[in-house]
Amino acid sequence: MRRITLTQYLVEQQREKGVVSGELRLLIEVVARACKSISNAVSKGALTGLLGGAGTDNVQGEAQKKLDVISNEVLLEANEWGGHLAAMASEEMEHPHQIPNRYPRGEFLLLIDPLDGSSNIDVNVSVGTIFSVLRCPEGVKDPDEKAFLQPGARQVAAGFAVYGPSTTLVLTVGNGVAGFTLDREMGSWVLTQPKIEIPVDTAEFAINMSNMRNWSAPVKRYIDECLAGKNGPLGKDYNMRWVASMVADVYRILTRGGIFMYPQDAKHKEGRLRLLYEASPMSFIVEQAGGAATNGHQRLLDVQPERLHQRVGVILGSRNEVERVSGYYKPAD
Ligand code: AHG
Ligand code: MN
Ligand code: MN
Repeated sequence: MRRITLTQYLVEQQREKGVVSGELRLLIEVVARACKSISNAVSKGALTGLLGGAGTDNVQGEAQKKLDVISNEVLLEANEWGGHLAAMASEEMEHPHQIPNRYPRGEFLLLIDPLDGSSNIDVNVSVGTIFSVLRCPEGVKDPDEKAFLQPGARQVAAGFAVYGPSTTLVLTVGNGVAGFTLDREMGSWVLTQPKIEIPVDTAEFAINMSNMRNWSAPVKRYIDECLAGKNGPLGKDYNMRWVASMVADVYRILTRGGIFMYPQDAKHKEGRLRLLYEASPMSFIVEQAGGAATNGHQRLLDVQPERLHQRVGVILGSRNEVERVSGYYKPAD
């Protein structure tokens, strides 16, 4: 069997479809290489003494894990020198990171969640890295926060890695979604899912049920209907999964369908997940795989960001089910 590597996949996208420029290819390869190194660090577990907290909080007041900080550094260092970036922004940094003057600047902006699901590290459950690529606005020399405030529909690429039983990488450059698996011996990303498509229907939902008392009416109605099973209005028995690592929950949905919800509720008034480096890239990927992504009221890719670390309600996955839930939302919800 002929093995197609990430490099080869990107060159083919460039040659045949014209969707990947040389500079974008370099960017994606650099991010993917950094993910290999994060995967390696994560897989060592307690051996390297890198489990546990870093003793610091990020800008959102969340306790940082040592591996949150390390993953952020790995991605910064890897991406600084290549000349493909105008600036970077990260969950772990309050302000955008400028490219040092000694390096050339490129045309792209990179947004990252260096380690998603990091509360799962210490218990040996899958975590991952999410990234989103935007174009730096025309004429902007020193991109500040404002340069990053672009709706998800403007992304030129998005992807995420999952550090699970195997290490995988999911990627879209706006021409469908492909999945790669890391061959550790060879050190290369091998194309294992050339065209990922989310089934339009599902009988599996993912939501943190402990937030139930805070849910809005449409969410409560939908989950009640799922729980009612075969004899309820949806006419089938539903199963539930919640990994608490968005990367793993979304990977499952890309593999076998499902609906993932972290909606706005009475406790999470703006939502829990971050728009620019969690919701936007995942929505781009899910839509490119034939699914849908909304905050209940609006397509997530159309939401105009107002702040770098803004949060948003997220409902995404199998198209028919996501549309059903958004159909339950009234303007006041
Ligand atoms: P992060 O570790 O980057 O802060 O993100 C964690 C997110 C997401 O991955 C997951 O879906 C959600 O937080 C889990 O939230 P709960 O702990 O409230 O279930
Ligand atoms: Mn996250
Ligand atoms: Mn994170």
